[in-house]
Amino acid sequence: MSEPLHIALAGLGTVGAGVVRLIETNADLISRRARRPIRITAVSARDRTKDRGVDLSPYEWVDDSAALAARDDVDVVVEMVGGSDGPALSLARQAIAAGKSLVTANKAMIAHHGLELASAAEAQGVALKFEAAVAGGIPVIKGLSEGAAANEIERVYGILNGTCNYILSTMEDTGRSFAEVLGEAQKLGYAEADPTFDVEGIDAAHKLSILAAIAFGSRLRFDAVETMGISRVRPADIAQAHSLGYVIRLIGMAELDATGGTPRLFQRVRPHLVPLDHPLAHVDGATNAVVAEGNFMGRLLFQGAGAGDGPTASAVVADIIDIARGEKGAAFSMPAGELGAMEPADSGHRQGRSYIRFTVPDRPGVLADITAAMRDAGVSIESLIQQNRSDAGEVLIAIVTHEGPESAVNEALRILDGSDSLSGKPLVMQIVG
Ligand code: HSE
Repeated sequence: MSEPLHIALAGLGTVGAGVVRLIETNADLISRRARRPIRITAVSARDRTKDRGVDLSPYEWVDDSAALAARDDVDVVVEMVGGSDGPALSLARQAIAAGKSLVTANKAMIAHHGLELASAAEAQGVALKFEAAVAGGIPVIKGLSEGAAANEIERVYGILNGTCNYILSTMEDTGRSFAEVLGEAQKLGYAEADPTFDVEGIDAAHKLSILAAIAFGSRLRFDAVETMGISRVRPADIAQAHSLGYVIRLIGMAELDATGGTPRLFQRVRPHLVPLDHPLAHVDGATNAVVAEGNFMGRLLFQGAGAGDGPTASAVVADIIDIARGEKGAAFSMPAGELGAMEPADSGHRQGRSYIRFTVPDRPGVLADITAAMRDAGVSIESLIQQNRSDAGEVLIAIVTHEGPESAVNEALRILDGSDSLSGKPLVMQIVG
């Protein structure tokens, strides 16, 4: 068997400890598949004394993760520190500059700095791999960049944040409020250190921008993802959706808009109504799922655990095995310099049905104002449900539109903006399919 591949691990949280456990448990199988042994040379984290449930004594401990980049006995640095900038980014830059391959689970860093790191890795002739950054254990990056490589991808969308999916499906099952269920998700350890990243859709937007760059061969544009999270979804929305035959899921969607000649890239994270007969409606709890539609392969569905030590470590070690085999690949499926500079598209090209929930004061004329705005914007109403007045004197009106341009719905909302017939900002969710 060939020379071992020597790796150094930076960051020993849940995922880091999972990587150690996986490499030790499946060492023999991994060596046979990688065609060489994979050896952990050194490890680094903030707190040496913390019990991580794995024996780290066989490995050299390094206090400063930056020192890993300079070691001669390291071929691959595995970054699991987290954060888009700071120590994670310095380590990534230094490791690549020192001629080491980099494996990372850091979606925020890749979403913000992926192009720079990919260009640097290409210049150094090393690998940059980040399967674990998107949808945990699901091999969706490999699936898109290798399995689907021959296809023109038309659309990629899915459930990219397990915390939001857990919250929405638990609200659905129990009727409890968003705030209550978020507290529980945090206790279960699903949410990011800052739960805003999860519940406001930022984590899903990081992942979507990475998938979109690979799927469409476009330069990564996290700044162009239109992002809305789930914090404004109420139990009443879930109940209304249910009565209409839908569940609510936070969906990240990227697609090409070819309506204006030069294709532009539409990227959006937003809660959607998903019909009960759609595969994404049955993705419950902290599970992730990604759908990719290609011109020859048709529709592919990837589903599995989007977080957790085992699944995420599995993705990290799969990347290490690729490097051990000498399969460096291009980080975004093609050289960074060949990725197209696609302009962002707004939702103007999109057609579909929408759910719009208004909160209104209970007085005559309110409904007339809303429906007049719909009429003036050319939005046709399919159904309208008004819910009883709450203790706060507020009434909920849920409207489902007929199929039509999203731009018309936006226009109706623009007409109503600032109207005293509304007591809060309307919530708009598109209906999938
Ligand atoms: N906080 C993330 C999620 C974990 O809830 O999906 C994995 O990225």
